[in-house]
Amino acid sequence: MCGIVGCILKKEKAAPILLECVKKLEYRGYDSVGIATLTSEIHIKKDSGKISEVDKKVRLSDLPGNMGIAHVRWATHGIPTKANSHPHTDCNGTVSVVHNGIIENFKELKSDLISQGHVFKSETDTEILPHLIEKYMKSGSNLEDSVRAALKYVHGSYAIAVMSSLEPGKIIGVRKESPLIVGKGDGEYFLASDVPAILKHTKNIIYLEDDEMVILEKKGITIKNKLGEIIKKEVHIIDWTPDMAEKGGYDHFMIKEIHEQPEAIKNTLMELTDIEKIVNKMGNVKRICFVACGTSYHASLIGKYLFESLGGIPTDVILASEFKYSAGSLDKDTLVILISQSGETADTLKALRTAKNTSKTLAIVNVLGSTATREADYIIYTRAGPEIGVAATKTYISQLTCIYMLAGLLCKHGDLVDKLHEIPQIIQNMLDNEDYIKAIAQKYRDAQDFFFIGRGFSYPTALEGALKLKEITYIHGEGYAAGELKHGPLALIDDEVPVVAVTPPGESHDKTVSNVEEVRARGAHVIAVGAESDENLQSEAEDVIGVDDSIDEIMSPIPYVVPLQLLSYYMSVARGIDPDKPKNLAKCVTVE
Ligand code: F6R
Repeated sequence: MCGIVGCILKKEKAAPILLECVKKLEYRGYDSVGIATLTSEIHIKKDSGKISEVDKKVRLSDLPGNMGIAHVRWATHGIPTKANSHPHTDCNGTVSVVHNGIIENFKELKSDLISQGHVFKSETDTEILPHLIEKYMKSGSNLEDSVRAALKYVHGSYAIAVMSSLEPGKIIGVRKESPLIVGKGDGEYFLASDVPAILKHTKNIIYLEDDEMVILEKKGITIKNKLGEIIKKEVHIIDWTPDMAEKGGYDHFMIKEIHEQPEAIKNTLMELTDIEKIVNKMGNVKRICFVACGTSYHASLIGKYLFESLGGIPTDVILASEFKYSAGSLDKDTLVILISQSGETADTLKALRTAKNTSKTLAIVNVLGSTATREADYIIYTRAGPEIGVAATKTYISQLTCIYMLAGLLCKHGDLVDKLHEIPQIIQNMLDNEDYIKAIAQKYRDAQDFFFIGRGFSYPTALEGALKLKEITYIHGEGYAAGELKHGPLALIDDEVPVVAVTPPGESHDKTVSNVEEVRARGAHVIAVGAESDENLQSEAEDVIGVDDSIDEIMSPIPYVVPLQLLSYYMSVARGIDPDKPKNLAKCVTVE
């Protein structure tokens, strides 16, 4: 995830304003930053590092001109270096581009351009854009047509801002599957990856749709569709307080991050090619051992069910804090997979260092450049974007997406990857109807104890639902394998202990429904999460949260956790707790 901004101002210098705007996007990336302004020529300052460090080093705001573009980067193609930082230019420095997204076919485009004499300075996918645009401008097209012509060849996702010294006074923005908004000020015009970046300058916001293009000029803005026809767009007045703006208009980071999950999955899916390369390099995997803590441990448990049931690969899952007591049988044929959002969890790092003595290690990590990424043999980035709420939500979903891709490749089940592409929309549909879950949360806000039950693939989902509840509502929540209830905990069930049953369609369904009957017979109120048209559940449970019917048991862990996250979030809010900062917990646990 990266962030982009662009502006055309009346008289003021653009660079200081762009710097201030891009700081508001630091949550989208923080490994490099750069600004380009345009007078009669393009001026650029950029480097790798946090915005404050780069600013101190190169004085980013010290650029002439009252129009420009800026970028904050979270590296995808090409490590964080000055050369890989945006803005990028063509050979002669006449076209400058900032980009958020991924150009999937950049290698083919790059080699074509090289064969036509273009010289590249970076390893990024983005750099092909200024070269392509310049190529069309050189052959006589104007900036707008050149951008359109260049994008015809591009596969992937993008939100871009482009300007050229060959046609000064214009900034062109286009989006496809990456966010881009336009700000209409008083004689000043902006574009940005999201609203908080420019809110200080204008509250009048236009949301661009895929393939729409905006042309910013001193005289105003024009928006065009894919065919180049001018279209009228609604201007939304955004009335957010500064605190709301930081959270993108949401009340808390946690709910914002829950809503970012469809986008997070799409970003994670872009790692597929890198995962393929890793799988090819690793060769045959005879045994797997997952090591992780907390929510990352629950993602690992899903990995066990996948690798064993689909690939017959023996798989262990060990809590990182228990690793030194129980990981006696690792050998060179074992792949140790460490899962960590932060890449800094002390127990996980300790296990990584031990595992390296005997085995190949693979770290699945969200935070770029974290310790785990420097020490493991292989790295997969989850690319969920920075997660600020203490409770892991979108990073869990991205960890699962990585594990499914890995399982699809290692167990030769290509269908898993195909099915992953359908999940963002299914989650989006649930998020669009979250009021229903909010009402259920209100109903149970005063409960003291909860049980979460599930079998097979739904057992780790039940554990994760219970962990979310404990963390942010301070209600005692216990996740249990549904079949284990009668071996003890059934003694605790009565009408004061609600039970959340995770019951997707599939092998485990009927047995879990029998467990629902068991707890109902002891007076429990049951909230069931299952397929939308599951009539059985409607008659067995008091509240039913429906998930798209197309989701089977194997794919269920990704979408089925979303209602559980929402349930905990809304109960936390109903109980007057700040879900972003639960007591006694930290985002990153760096002590054993
Ligand atoms: C739960 C949560 C924690 C973390 C755990 C591991 O919402 O966030 O349980 O999952 O502390 O952290 P990472 O994944 O950074 O190693």
